[in-house]
Amino acid sequence: MVAESPAPSSSTTPGSASRTAKAAKDAKGTQDSRMKGPAKKGRQFSRGVRRAVNSGHVVASVGLVGVEIVMIMLGVIAKNTGDATLQHATYQLMRMLAYAAGIPLAVLAMVSGVVLALRTPWGLWKHQWIKVKFVLLIVVIAIGAGLVSQWVRDLADKTEVGADQAGLAAVQWYQLAGAGVQLTALVVATFLSVYKPSGSGRVAKSRGSGRGSASVG
Ligand code: HEM
Repeated sequence: MVAESPAPSSSTTPGSASRTAKAAKDAKGTQDSRMKGPAKKGRQFSRGVRRAVNSGHVVASVGLVGVEIVMIMLGVIAKNTGDATLQHATYQLMRMLAYAAGIPLAVLAMVSGVVLALRTPWGLWKHQWIKVKFVLLIVVIAIGAGLVSQWVRDLADKTEVGADQAGLAAVQWYQLAGAGVQLTALVVATFLSVYKPSGSGRVAKSRGSGRGSASVG
């Protein structure tokens, strides 16, 4: 019995020490297999790099939420003002905001998200919440690049002095609806990131500790 006890102490019996050591070994084994995950061990980020990339990812993706909120606010102001100069200036500002902040932040959120997924045990196509976020961000980028940027350019052109304003009201509504869909998708993605639903056991376990990604961080 004593030979089975790796480190007997004054406060533990040999039997309990053996059980404790076994439990610790089991826990380590489980943690090791969790840490390995589906990705190759050599391709994983170190803890410091992972935190830095994760911080950049949160700044970019949540910053994009802020950009969409401002786009809606400016769209409402421009739609309702009776001041033609303010209206045109607001659409010019929205155009600049879309190109100078919206596009760079969307690209950064996409690149950092994909890199994080591939260089951590999460994987890109293993968890529902990551797959859905990926699709949502593609939808946001497609709406932004394919539709909203055109509409904002149209709005800036139509509100220039002397320009033909035919169809202005319709495009104003399209812009607000498009930005509304983008904002909704990004808010859903933010909730998915924090709750991480339909995850594996490790997620459920780490939820109990109050840290969504504690077991893989
Ligand atoms: C291509 C799309 C995306 C992919 C592949 C992706 C992937 C990931 C991964 C793997 C993590 C976990 C990082 C870690 O534990 O080290 C993460 C965290 C996070 N993501 Fe994304 N993401 C994407 C888009 C988004 C979007 C659109 C948003 C929100 C607008 C977002 C918000 C967040 C937040 C807030 C976290 C931090 C969660 C936490 O630490 O508990 N992500 N993302």
